[in-house]
Amino acid sequence: MPKVSMTVNGKAVSGNVDSRTLLVQFLREHLRLTGTHVGCDTSQCGCCVVHVDGTSIKSCTALALSCEGADVTTIEGLAKDGKLHPMQEAFRENHGLQCGFCTPGMIMSAVDIVNRKGNDLDEQTIRHELEGNICRCTGYHNIVKAVAAGAQAMK
Ligand code: FES
Ligand code: FES
Repeated sequence: MPKVSMTVNGKAVSGNVDSRTLLVQFLREHLRLTGTHVGCDTSQCGCCVVHVDGTSIKSCTALALSCEGADVTTIEGLAKDGKLHPMQEAFRENHGLQCGFCTPGMIMSAVDIVNRKGNDLDEQTIRHELEGNICRCTGYHNIVKAVAAGAQAMK
């Protein structure tokens, strides 16, 4: 099996993978980073969003081998020195989750939205940008509030 090497959450990692192995499988099954979830098999739910070279992608749609040499950040890599990332803290404070299954993907997408669109996000922009992330619990209102607050806190 071919070997793949990349940096995940600041650590150099490598493993032998089948050529069909998805990035999400590599993260969850080889590295045991199970914060990245799989919620569908149709690339729709967004539970699997991670950052690859600074951009959010659905890790169920990328082959692990295609990420050779990449810099990958998962939800486990956001907190620093035992302190939650401001976007994680905003989800906690604004009750932006219920079961939590969609939350890692929501937060990784939200950080990417701030990186691309800036810190002053209106509701319409947040809702539009989150169209690739599905939540079946919350009704989205508190997620939108959390993203707006997290964006401000990231200033
Ligand atoms: Fe649903 Fe990736 S697992 S979009
Ligand atoms: Fe349950 Fe979003 S909090 S799916």
